[in-house]
Amino acid sequence: MKIINIVGARPNFVKIAPLMEAYRQHKAITPVLVHTGQHYDSKMSDLFFHQLGIPQPDLNLGVGSASHAVQTAEIMKAFEPVVLEHKPDLVLVVGDVNSTIACGLVAVKLGVKLVHVEAGLRSFDRTMPEEVNRVLTDSISDFLFCTEKSGVDNLAREGIAADKVFLVGNVMIDALLKHKAAAEKSSIVRDMKLESGRYAVLTLHRPANVDDPDVFDRILDALDVIQRDMPVVFPIHPRTRNNLKDSAPGKRVQEMKNLVMTDPLGYLDFLKLMSEARIVLTDSGGIQEETAILKVPCVTLRENTERPVTVDTGWNQVVGRDPERIIAAYQRAFSRPKDAGERPPLWDGHAAERIVRILADRCGG
Ligand code: UD1
Repeated sequence: MKIINIVGARPNFVKIAPLMEAYRQHKAITPVLVHTGQHYDSKMSDLFFHQLGIPQPDLNLGVGSASHAVQTAEIMKAFEPVVLEHKPDLVLVVGDVNSTIACGLVAVKLGVKLVHVEAGLRSFDRTMPEEVNRVLTDSISDFLFCTEKSGVDNLAREGIAADKVFLVGNVMIDALLKHKAAAEKSSIVRDMKLESGRYAVLTLHRPANVDDPDVFDRILDALDVIQRDMPVVFPIHPRTRNNLKDSAPGKRVQEMKNLVMTDPLGYLDFLKLMSEARIVLTDSGGIQEETAILKVPCVTLRENTERPVTVDTGWNQVVGRDPERIIAAYQRAFSRPKDAGERPPLWDGHAAERIVRILADRCGG
C-alpha cells in the first residue's frame, strides 16, 4: 500500500514525524513524503526535519509564499502530476494549512482516498483561513482521525458518516512525549539568561492579530504591562517580522526593554523554553495543546479555540485581544493550582500507531 504524506508548514512537520516512524512497523506500507514548500526558511523547515528525525522528503514542490489563491493553486498544479505518477492508494494530509486542502482536493479529484489527521476541529470562525481549510478537507476525506471528542461531535453534526471517523489521540503530543527528554538538554534557558519559572513566552502570527496595526497595538498594551513584571521571550514568525518592519507596533516593541525577541526557534529549544516558562501567551493552535500536557498555564490571544479540550484541562484560558482581559487572565493563571488539569483521553504518545494500524487494517497494508 502506497501512502503519499503531505507536509507544507511548520506545524505539519511535528505532526508527520510520529506517522513516518509508525509506518516502519508496517512492512506492507510504502510511505512517500511530499513537502509542498509552503514554508522554506531553514528555521521554519529544515531544522524541524533534522531535530524530529523526519526522513528527507521524496519530493519538494518548492511552491513558497503567495496569496491564498495563488499558493493553493500552485500547490495543486504541482501535486497533480505527482499523484498521477505515483498512483498512491491513499493521500494523507495533516492539520489545516493551505497545503492540506490543496493536496486533498487533488487527491479526491483523481479518485484517490484521502486521510485527514486532526479532523473535526472547529473554531466556528470562518474568517480564519484555517477554519475554511478544515471544513473543506473534512468534507472530502475518507478517513477522519480526531484528536478530541469535540471533533467527533462536530463531524457528526456536519453529517459525516460515523464509520469514517476515529478518535485516536494527538500526533503532536506523540512528538512532544518522544522528544521531551532530548529537549531537556537544550541550553536555551541558560543561553538567554532566563530563570526557570520566571519568564513568559509569547508567540503571535495569526493574520487577525498581526496584520492589523490597531489590533496588534492593543495586544502590545497588555504585553507592555506583562514585560514589566517578568521577561517575555518572543520568537518571531516571518509574517509577524514583516509586519513589524517600519510600523508603529514595530517601534513599540523596540522600546520594551524586557521583551526579548528572537528568530524562530527549533523544536527542541522551543519545547524546553515552554516547559520552564511561568506562562505562555499565544495565538497558535498547537501550543494550546502542548502547554496543556506540559502543565504550563496558557493564555490564548484569540476570540475562540478549535481545541476546547485544552480549556477543559484547566491549563488554557481563551481571552481574545482586549488588553484588560489579557492582563486579568495573566494574573489569574498564577493563582490556579498547578495540578488543575487532566490529560485529554488518548493523548498518550500512541496516536500515530493507532492511525497506521487502522489504515493497514482497512486498506490491506
Ligand atoms: C501558515 C498557516 C497557519 C499556520 C502557520 C504556522 C495557512 C493558511 N496558514 O501561516 O495555519 O498556523 O503557517 O507557521 O496555511 N514566510 C517566510 N518564510 C517561510 C514561510 C513564510 O518568510 O519559510 C513569510 C512570507 O512572507 C509569507 C508569510 O511568512 O508570505 C506567511 O506565510 P504563509 O505560509 O502564507 O502563512 P503563515 O502565516 O506562515
